[in-house]
Amino acid sequence: MTSALASPRVRAVLQRLHDKADREDRAAKERVRAQERELGVRLAPAQRYELYGDAPLAISREVGALYHLLITGQRARSVVEFGMSHGISTIYLAAALADLGGGWIITTEILPGKADAARQNLMEAGLSDLVEIRVGDALQTLKSVPDEIDVLVLDGRNDQYVPVFGLVQPRLSASAVVLADLGRDDPDLQYYQEYVRDPASGLVSIELPLDAGIEVSVRIAADTGARQRTADPPTASMQSGRAAAAGPDDVRDRLRALRVFAGEMPSFETDRAPAHPAELFLEWLLAAIDVGVREPHAMTLSTVDQAGRPTSRVLILKGLLDGQWQFASSATSRKGRELAANPWAAINFYWSELGRQVRIRGRVTDAGPAASARDFLARPVGSRAEALAGRQSDVLTHPQDLDDALAEARSRVEADRKLVAEHWTLYHLIPDEIEFWQADPERRHTRLRYVLQDSRWTQQALWP
Ligand SMILES: Cc1cc2nc3c(=O)[nH]c(=O)nc-3n(C[C@H](O)[C@H](O)[C@H](O)COP(=O)(O)O)c2cc1C
Repeated sequence: MTSALASPRVRAVLQRLHDKADREDRAAKERVRAQERELGVRLAPAQRYELYGDAPLAISREVGALYHLLITGQRARSVVEFGMSHGISTIYLAAALADLGGGWIITTEILPGKADAARQNLMEAGLSDLVEIRVGDALQTLKSVPDEIDVLVLDGRNDQYVPVFGLVQPRLSASAVVLADLGRDDPDLQYYQEYVRDPASGLVSIELPLDAGIEVSVRIAADTGARQRTADPPTASMQSGRAAAAGPDDVRDRLRALRVFAGEMPSFETDRAPAHPAELFLEWLLAAIDVGVREPHAMTLSTVDQAGRPTSRVLILKGLLDGQWQFASSATSRKGRELAANPWAAINFYWSELGRQVRIRGRVTDAGPAASARDFLARPVGSRAEALAGRQSDVLTHPQDLDDALAEARSRVEADRKLVAEHWTLYHLIPDEIEFWQADPERRHTRLRYVLQDSRWTQQALWP
C-alpha cells in the first residue's frame, strides 16, 4: 500500500501550496519586522496577523512529513487543529488518517477567506471528507469538541496557544500528542513551552529543530485512560455545552492558564517624565493607538451615589482639553444623576498590549450647553437617535417601547439636523491625582503618581 501523500492529487496540491508559501511567507514576515522596526515595539499578535494578510504562513515539507509520521505512528483517529490557514498542514494530517483507514479532524481558522481556500484545497486533494472546518475565533469554535482527542496541533495566533491548549486539554486521550509550531522567537511561545514543560502539566515535551522549532509534547498522565476510545464522527459524542461541564476547578484551571503581562513591555523612565501629567497621558495614548490597542479611548468611569456606594461603567474619551479629560453622556443617566449629587469621580485606562494603566481622580464639571451641543451634533445619526430617545439606564419593561422610541427619534434627527438631545452633556474631569503604571513581566512594575498641590503638579514614585 502506498501512502495518500504519494498520490498524484495530494502531491499536486501540496506542490502548488508550498510554492505559493515559498513566494509569499517571507515577504509577509518581513512586512511585520519592518513595521516593528519603525515603531520600535513588538506588535500585538492581532496586529501582526492583520499584516500577514492572506499569506499561508505554512509549515515546511519536512514538518508536514513529521506530522504525518507521528500521526500514523500513534495510530491516531481524532485530531484537533488550531489555525488551518490554507490547509497545508491539514492535508498532511488528513493524509495520515487516510493511511490509517479513517478518523476525523476538527480544524479552525479565523479568516473566512483562508477557510474557503483551505476547503477547496482539501477537496482537490480528495481529503475533505475527513475534515470539519470551523470558522471563527478558536476560543469559541473549539469550545465544544469530543472526548479522546489523540492529536492537538497548535499553529495559530501565538498568544492563544496556552488558552486553546487549556480548552482542549480535558478532552485529550491518555497518550495524546500535542504539536506546536513555534513560528518565531516570541514571549508567548516561550510561555507556552514553560507551560507544557511544567511537570504539573502531565506532559513530556521537547523542541525539535525543524522550521523555527516544533514543540512535541506527549501526554503521560494516566487519569483518562479508562475512557472508551471512539472514532465516531464529532457530532456523535459532542458535549452539550461548556458551562455544564465547567466546575469551579475547571474555571480555576482555565484562569490559571491565562497569562498576564505577556510579551515585551516598554520601559518607563520616570526621571524623564514631563512636568504635566496630561503630556505623559497623551504620549501613552498615542502609543496605544500606534500599537493597535483595540478601543484605546475606552475608559472606566467610577462615580458614587449619595450613600457613598461606587458604580463603574465604560465610556469613550472624547478629548483632552487644557489638562481636562472629556466624556459625554446623558445627565439623566445614573452617572449623570450621581455626578450632579457628588462631582468626584475616577477614570481608569488599561492598555494590555503595553501593560499600561492610568488612574485619574478629580472633580467633574459640565462643559456647558454650547460644547455639549457641538459634541452631540458630531455624533453619527444612530447615536444621536439613541441619545434623543433618552431614558438611559431606566428600566425597560417592553422592548417594543425602545424600538418605537428609536424609530421616532431617528425620524426627528433626520428631519432636523440641528436637533440636540436636551440632557446630552459633555463633562470635563479636572484631575488632582494621576497615576501612571507600567507593568514589568518580572513584576517589578513602575508607578509614578502626580499630585496637584497648591496648583503645582508634584511627582511620587510608588512601590508596586
Ligand atoms: C466601549 C464602550 C463605550 C461606551 N461609551 C459610552 C459613552 O461614551 N457614553 C455613554 O453614555 N455610554 C457609553 N457606553 C455605555 C456605558 O458603559 C453605560 O452602559 C451607560 O452609559 C449607562 O451607564 P449608567 O447607567 O451607569 O449611567 C459605552 C460602553 C462601552 C462598552
